[in-house]
Amino acid sequence: KHELEDDILDVLVSKEEIQQCTQELADRLTEDYKGRRPLLIGILKGACPFLCDLMQAMPIDISLDFMSVSSYGASSSSTGEVRILKDLDTSVQDREIIIVEDIIDSGNTLFYLKNLLLSRGAKSVELVTLLNKPDRRTRDIEVKYIGKSIPDHFVVGYGLDFNETYRNLPYIGILKPEVYS
Ligand code: PRP
Ligand code: MN
Ligand code: MG
Repeated sequence: KHELEDDILDVLVSKEEIQQCTQELADRLTEDYKGRRPLLIGILKGACPFLCDLMQAMPIDISLDFMSVSSYGASSSSTGEVRILKDLDTSVQDREIIIVEDIIDSGNTLFYLKNLLLSRGAKSVELVTLLNKPDRRTRDIEVKYIGKSIPDHFVVGYGLDFNETYRNLPYIGILKPEVYS
């Protein structure tokens, strides 16, 4: 039993379902990118567990890099501006990019990153996310690879945090309201 389990109201996506979604996405990506050596970019920190499982389920040549970004806050949500905390080590010039996310919420992070990478000369940029929260979207972005769309619950686990806690739960859980209110 996990030490934090009492904070969880319900399991929204079980470990088994995560595994199944990940395998399906990996199969599609493998088919679409074989022979093209894509650059997988994991967005720290939430994407880490998903990225690790996803890439191991892709039996093709890839390379790997990370970025860490932070939203500027409410006033800038209209511009979608995000601040880069850690940039890539790799040049994206003429590379085929797959941005890997745990969840897409407003879409701001990915809207900004996709445009940034294209402006740096990437050949193509696609997005893969384990979870999608369509109800919260404020940006019109195309997400080609989606594991599962979920309702607007406060979810944690498998990379997703609340105040930097719960990232290591092995499933996606709904947080009890009394924990965050
Ligand atoms: C979360 C999540 C996505 C982003 C989605 O990251 O992991 O990266 O927010 O939100 P958006 O679609 O509204 O941009 P967060 O900024 O909490 O950082 P973390 O991954 O380090 O937890
Ligand atoms: Mn994140
Ligand atoms: Mg977070």
